[in-house]
Amino acid sequence: MKKTTAAETVMIVDDTPANLRCLQEILHLRGYRVVSFLQGESALRAAVKNPPDVILLDIMMPDMNGFEVCERLKTDPVLRRIPVLFISALSDREDKTRAFAAGGVDYVTKPFDEQEVLTRIDTHLNLYRLNRELEGMVEERTAELIEANETLKQEISVRKRVEEQLCSHQLLLQSVFEGIAEPLILLDGALRVKLYNNSAAAYYQAAGTGITRNEAFDAIERRMDHELCDTLRNLAKGVACDPIVHLERKAIADPERIEQVSLYPIERNESTAGGTIIRIADITEERRRSQEMAQADKLIALGTLVAGVAHEINNPAHVILLNTPAISEVWQHIQPILDEHLASNGDFPVGNLLYSELKQEVPALLSDIESSANRIKRIVSVLKGYSAKNNNLVLAPVDINTVVEDAMLLMGHRIKKSTGRFHVAYGQGIPSLTADGQKLEQVVVNLIANALESLPDKNRAVWVETSYDSEKQEVTIDVRDEGIGIPPALISRIMDPFFTTKKATGGTGLGMAIAEQIIKLHHGHIEVASEEGAGSTFKVTLPLSRSRGKAIFLPAGKESNRGVL
Ligand SMILES: Nc1ncnc2c1ncn2[C@@H]1O[C@H](COP(=O)(O)OP(=O)(O)OP(=O)(O)O)[C@@H](O)[C@H]1O
Ligand SMILES: [Mg+2]
Repeated sequence: MKKTTAAETVMIVDDTPANLRCLQEILHLRGYRVVSFLQGESALRAAVKNPPDVILLDIMMPDMNGFEVCERLKTDPVLRRIPVLFISALSDREDKTRAFAAGGVDYVTKPFDEQEVLTRIDTHLNLYRLNRELEGMVEERTAELIEANETLKQEISVRKRVEEQLCSHQLLLQSVFEGIAEPLILLDGALRVKLYNNSAAAYYQAAGTGITRNEAFDAIERRMDHELCDTLRNLAKGVACDPIVHLERKAIADPERIEQVSLYPIERNESTAGGTIIRIADITEERRRSQEMAQADKLIALGTLVAGVAHEINNPAHVILLNTPAISEVWQHIQPILDEHLASNGDFPVGNLLYSELKQEVPALLSDIESSANRIKRIVSVLKGYSAKNNNLVLAPVDINTVVEDAMLLMGHRIKKSTGRFHVAYGQGIPSLTADGQKLEQVVVNLIANALESLPDKNRAVWVETSYDSEKQEVTIDVRDEGIGIPPALISRIMDPFFTTKKATGGTGLGMAIAEQIIKLHHGHIEVASEEGAGSTFKVTLPLSRSRGKAIFLPAGKESNRGVL
């Protein structure tokens, strides 16, 4: 049997004092605290103040019977849990049934059997205690669950917020990617495609491989470029030495173009798992511009050098040209005296030669000196036209047809000498250009001179044609000949300064170099097409109203005021 606890209180409600006494005795002896009441009303009040642990309730009482007391107890949220045992006569079966219906848990029968009373009280107190303990545990567990639920709710809301932020960051990143015109791809640390822009989609579409998210990037590229794949793998392994790697290759969709593939590694740290951003840029134009700039620099440097040398050579050439006629004159005066000496004394040596031989040689020597000095002068004058200070344009409204007309006037004699078939077609409605008319005339003169010089006989033709492309806003001058043509191996060199195939006939190789420089200063370009034995076409294209270099603008009709600063 279970031992009682001093703290446990048994309330007895019975209108028969003898019953109360008997029960009090039994329970006291057992060690319970006992509170006794003769009426239900006073017992209820006391129970509210100090709830007992078990109640023994007599059924038959005068004011309020046991069932009513029990029903009242069951309406109170605290008292309703206290076990109620009814006190009933052994024979009263109906009472017992009602007792359970009213909420009683058990009953003790009169006359009281000490053992039975104690057993029932002990059992119900135990049950009550266990019940309370269980309820406490349930309450505790429920509180824990509520707390866990609350934490979970908070975690979910934090996660939701983070997901929203992530989503908006992803959208922001995508819009940044889309804002960049070149193909851009973001890879994760395992080289899988995480993000790409529309340009990248179009690029890989054109390359025939396509691109999809989460695909292994090196699988996409492997069919096209092994070098890039190797570099990517090294980068992923952390082997690559440079933080940013630039690779150049022929463009996948168009092998005529050059593209640069740049790899920007993203450092791996607590907030990012690392990765790589790939940018593919078409650098064909950039490369062409830098080549052009290198060529322009070369020409400017050469121009400065040439101007200095030309100046230095000009003076001695001038002296030679001035003194050669004087020596000729001296020779003419001295010759009769020497002839007389020859007649009376016979031939005599002068330096390494005999006088009779020298007499034949000297006029040819003097003429050679004079023509060579003249060639020096001609080269010097062309070189001066090539000098750096001539990079300045004197701009004014220029009619391209007038430029061609003026050039033909200058070349009239040579045209007649070289061909019987010279044709000019002037384009109609060509707007005037803002340009340096004199320099453009120099270009046309050079092109016509070359065309004429290329003709093997007078039956071959030369055509000059001007035209205007209103859509592109460009003016063109075409000079076409039926000359000897240019071998393919030489075509890339004809614009180089001093490149000439006409040294024997006095060519300087500066005509095309100067022409190209002038056209570039006007922001235009010269294209050449040629077939050996069939002829060549030179096409000069000039944009309307665009010019480069230092420019001086002159109002229309004041071309007589021209001057180069
Ligand atoms: N219409 C053409 N037909 C064939 N070859 C040409 C033609 N125009 C230019 N060339 C080639 O380009 C070279 C360079 O031309 P460029 O005008 O610069 O010098 P050049 O004519 O040789 O000398 P210069 O202009 O001083 O008389 C020429 O020597 C020639 O080989
Ligand atoms: Mg020439």
